[in-house]
Amino acid sequence: MGLLELRELSKEYKRGGRSFNAVNRVSLSVEAGDFISIIGRSGSGKTTLLNMGAGLLNPTGGTVFFEGRDIYTLRDKDISLFRNEKIGYVPQGQSLLSNFTVFDNVCIPWFLFKREGDVEGRAFILLEKVGISHLAASYPKELSGGEMRRAAIARALINDPRLLIADEPTGDLDAQTTAEIMRLFRAVAQEGTAVLIVTHELDTLEYGNKTYSMNEGNLALHTA
Ligand SMILES: Nc1ncnc2c1ncn2[C@@H]1O[C@H](COP(=O)(O)OP(=O)(O)OP(=O)(O)O)[C@@H](O)[C@H]1O
Ligand SMILES: [Mg+2]
Repeated sequence: MGLLELRELSKEYKRGGRSFNAVNRVSLSVEAGDFISIIGRSGSGKTTLLNMGAGLLNPTGGTVFFEGRDIYTLRDKDISLFRNEKIGYVPQGQSLLSNFTVFDNVCIPWFLFKREGDVEGRAFILLEKVGISHLAASYPKELSGGEMRRAAIARALINDPRLLIADEPTGDLDAQTTAEIMRLFRAVAQEGTAVLIVTHELDTLEYGNKTYSMNEGNLALHTA
């Protein structure tokens, strides 16, 4: 069994008296070292799928296994601990806490559960890796969109997750910054952390080892 295994995963939403499957019986297997991209039009169900895979949103059908464990059978507290330890998540859009510096934002997941070790040293290494160590003492509102995104990526890596999930991490970034971030993800994958990203741009696909496309809740292998 893979690191993350989605089996026949569905999410049914009701809106305006009508119900529909935002995600429709999706199966997907993610192994250590994988770099998987999912593309698809706006509204096709990509974020809904990632949220269910990350333990953030209860499916209405199907199962999510992580390291062989059915995560939605865990109690809320256990699911939070599991996510904090095993999954780094870069949400769609701006997600930094505005009252904290970049440095503190990166450290926060470390302190959510009791941990020992040199978190400061680790945070600096990660900020260097994503190219914004000079902004450690700045606040999110003083950063550009791309810089905020990099800070969110550093934050997602602080607990050395087994899986990094990123929802359109390069949306609205220029081509050069996009390439830098994609190379960073590739390096993360090569170091053994599985990477699962949603992306709008086709030009980011060359970096991954597998690409799927999402269409009205259905997932299929993407063929060029
Ligand atoms: N809480 C909700 N209740 C009802 N419908 C929802 C809810 N959340 C999302 N949807 C609908 O489910 C569908 C999938 O949404 P989702 O956010 O997963 O799309 P997406 O592929 O991530 O789109 P985008 O590329 O714009 O981010 C959309 O039609 C959306 O309007
Ligand atoms: Mg989305």
